[in-house]
Amino acid sequence: MKNQPRPKVLLLHQILEPGLTVLNEEVDVVAYPDDQPVEPKLIAQAAQGCLGILSLLKDPITEEVLSVPGLKVVANCAVGFENIDVAAATKHGVMVTNTPGVLDQSTADFAFALMMATARRVVEADQFVRDGHFEGWGIDLMLGRDLYGATLGIVGMGRIGQAVARRSSGFLMRLLYHNRHPVHRDVERALHAQAVDLDTLLVESDIVSIHVPLTSETRHLIGAREIALMKPTAILINTSRGAVVDEAALIDALKNHRLFGAGLDVFEREPEVPAALSALPNVVLAPHIGSASAVTRAEMSEIAARNLLIGIRGATPANLVNPEVLA
Ligand code: GLV
Repeated sequence: MKNQPRPKVLLLHQILEPGLTVLNEEVDVVAYPDDQPVEPKLIAQAAQGCLGILSLLKDPITEEVLSVPGLKVVANCAVGFENIDVAAATKHGVMVTNTPGVLDQSTADFAFALMMATARRVVEADQFVRDGHFEGWGIDLMLGRDLYGATLGIVGMGRIGQAVARRSSGFLMRLLYHNRHPVHRDVERALHAQAVDLDTLLVESDIVSIHVPLTSETRHLIGAREIALMKPTAILINTSRGAVVDEAALIDALKNHRLFGAGLDVFEREPEVPAALSALPNVVLAPHIGSASAVTRAEMSEIAARNLLIGIRGATPANLVNPEVLA
């Protein structure tokens, strides 16, 4: 009897082991050409004959891609999936999966790294020393803000927000949060967190850390009006999605010292970073690396690969974001 041909899947970018080995055990992997722009039309062409696509958060998975005949599943190697037109996926019977949970701790660690770096001016200090400006201890040299005892306002108290909240107890922070729905009382109690409306959070917090997904409701959730509510000594941390903050309004506030600083892992039009932002000393910038520990990125790769294979076999992946596709 002839061997059945193995299903084909399109890998838009390299992933980490063991993700690739997991895929290779069951399917034929078609690698997207390195030298080709990752655009809907070209993705759709490359995906012809494939049952699945493994994508990253920067890949535009539009209806043109989702209507490729025979496509069963798109596995995004990320928790966020605003790069995928989920409604179109459902319409075309395509399952969409993500990688929630596994990256919570690494992302929360990184939110704290940005908080500490911004509050204590770590990047500026490093540059100062490298540039040979350190000429001796100074009473007013590089004065920053204390995290210890500060009020931390968490916008979005999902898994990552809660992981950030847990870290704040070591700094004896007062914890405020704003979420679409208050979290369970037991969680609130365990975290010593108080639910407040967004304006109260912005007015009272020394540090505001954003942990919401990007949706039509959260786009520019933090705009000029919201930034104006914050203390001039406050710090804004964003490890979620750039477009949750109005970048132009933030640049204006930072330039005019209406905020102490900002720590940004994400930008409105990645990978573009406005020159006006890069020019500011009171901002710490990172290239969207919140989840980038070696272990976490390897686990994300493996989960995305397994989600893809489960979907191809016709079973229901645990991380299906559009369960209505099964109806
Ligand atoms: C990272 O930003 C992710 O969505 O996984």
